[in-house]
Amino acid sequence: MPRAFAKVILFGEHAVVHGRTAFAAALDRGATSSGRRVEGASRLDLRAWNKVVFEGQADDDVARAFGAVLAEVGGDGAVDVTIDVQVPGGAGLGCSAAIAVALARAIAEARGVALDDRRAAECANAWERVFHGNPSGVDGAVAAHGGVIKFRRGEASIHPVVPGGVMELCVGYTGEPSSTKSMVESVARQLARRPEVVERTFDGIDTLAIKAAEAIKAGRWYEVGQMMDLNHALLTSLMVSTESLERICHAARDAGAMGAKLTGGGGGGCAIALAPGKTDAVLAAWKGIGIEGFVARIGSPIVSREAMP
Ligand code: MEV
Repeated sequence: MPRAFAKVILFGEHAVVHGRTAFAAALDRGATSSGRRVEGASRLDLRAWNKVVFEGQADDDVARAFGAVLAEVGGDGAVDVTIDVQVPGGAGLGCSAAIAVALARAIAEARGVALDDRRAAECANAWERVFHGNPSGVDGAVAAHGGVIKFRRGEASIHPVVPGGVMELCVGYTGEPSSTKSMVESVARQLARRPEVVERTFDGIDTLAIKAAEAIKAGRWYEVGQMMDLNHALLTSLMVSTESLERICHAARDAGAMGAKLTGGGGGGCAIALAPGKTDAVLAAWKGIGIEGFVARIGSPIVSREAMP
């Protein structure tokens, strides 16, 4: 069954839109799909946790994005695709890119077209451009490849990174849906207003992403945690954090996490906390302030492309 991964951005969101490095990891959940050739018009059924959220060919953004992926995959023939997604949308967990990659793979399978990971990621970008205007491509790259990757916009290849051990992350959801498009636009406005300051902020994030990749390879978790805190501070200066995200990060650090930051576009959505040996304490602290969370074990073999059926 075609599949694609949801993700967390460990370092580098927003700066990656402007050509800096991002460092992201696949989650052990995402989207699955099935497709078949049909007569007449193509159709898409989109379900979240088995509940239908989009059906058929309504004239809206989903239909336009579907059309963009059908064209990008190539080949011909109408297809009927069903997608099931297991992460909330608007939470910064790459739900949209996971849907797009699972969709592209189902279309390719039904039409008998070869589609490697790089092409699947390009299909995700065609989908994402409808919803978010200026995607860096990092979400599509992780959705297609899985694993842990270092990514830079415009580079022909992505760089897989093997962590020096399993990274125990807690992911906390504010429950506030966020719009990546409006957060990316807000950062672009700040860049236009104060280019010298914002470019330096992006450079700082870039340095953290590159250094963190080395620390993660070596399993130096304490250093990684400190760099997450710094990355979060720089994101806060770009005004993409919220009160709930700040509360989640503080509660996680108080419960023993080595570092915490928002993940994805911000403005709501999720935060992550690096908490080796402390995941129960962090989840309990979050529960105490009304925050739902789960544990993601980054670098465990199940979250790699090879583990896909
Ligand atoms: C969204 O997951 C990450 C952002 O950097 C946007 C993008 O890279 O396209 C905010």
